[in-house]
Amino acid sequence: MRRWLVAGNWKMNNTIEEAIKLATTVRENTYDIKGGDIILAPPYTLLHGVKEVIEGSNIFLAAQNMFYEDKGAYTGEISPAMIKDAGCTYVIIGHSERRKYFGETDEVVNLKTKKALKEGLKPIVCVGETDVERDKGITSYVVGIQVRKALYGIEFSEDIVIAYEPVWAIGTGRNATSEQAEEVHRFIRGILKELYGTPSERTRILYGGSVTADNIGELINMENIDGALVGGASLKSDSFVGIIRKVSENRKC
Ligand code: 13P
Repeated sequence: MRRWLVAGNWKMNNTIEEAIKLATTVRENTYDIKGGDIILAPPYTLLHGVKEVIEGSNIFLAAQNMFYEDKGAYTGEISPAMIKDAGCTYVIIGHSERRKYFGETDEVVNLKTKKALKEGLKPIVCVGETDVERDKGITSYVVGIQVRKALYGIEFSEDIVIAYEPVWAIGTGRNATSEQAEEVHRFIRGILKELYGTPSERTRILYGGSVTADNIGELINMENIDGALVGGASLKSDSFVGIIRKVSENRKC
């Protein structure tokens, strides 16, 4: 019922030459895969080059961030219209690295999510607890606030994607177990149901945090895990394509 989705968040990596090579290999090795959506999220400077490589394929382009204003004196920022112009369909919003290093608050995440939807971009809204918060037993509390605040004042849209990325699992090689992830995904789906009713069953919820071709098979078997937001393993075509294949083969619904 929900199409699976696998997104590669390249973070601050790759030159244009490396990007074109990687995107080309991903394209060549995924053309036969159906039933879901594949996304590449390169840094801004590589968007246009990657767009040319994936044109006409089943791969979509995402930006890793955007500002919520249309234009003006905002040195270093980039607008929704600009990333659309560069070929983006999706935009990652509120990644924990943006929250941690660039002070993004739930309020900013909400403004960006609203703006993305208004401009016809599909937001991938990231939430997740730190290790300290998990140890304190306040994971649901933290994630609940992040989801509610991100979606505050926003009507239901099938374009909204939520990514649960426990901060302690990002780049650490220590992924959440499928049970740990499913527990939070089920909790998030409960909030979506409360906010939006039955249509919320169509919202895709991705897992992110040390996803590899070895651990995705079990994760994607869970009822409320609809795909993955992949960091490190998306930088090598073999591992990224391996993840996409596992998702397409193991996804039950
Ligand atoms: P890793 O897959 O490198 O843990 O990164 C996850 C992530 O932050 C994707 O947005």
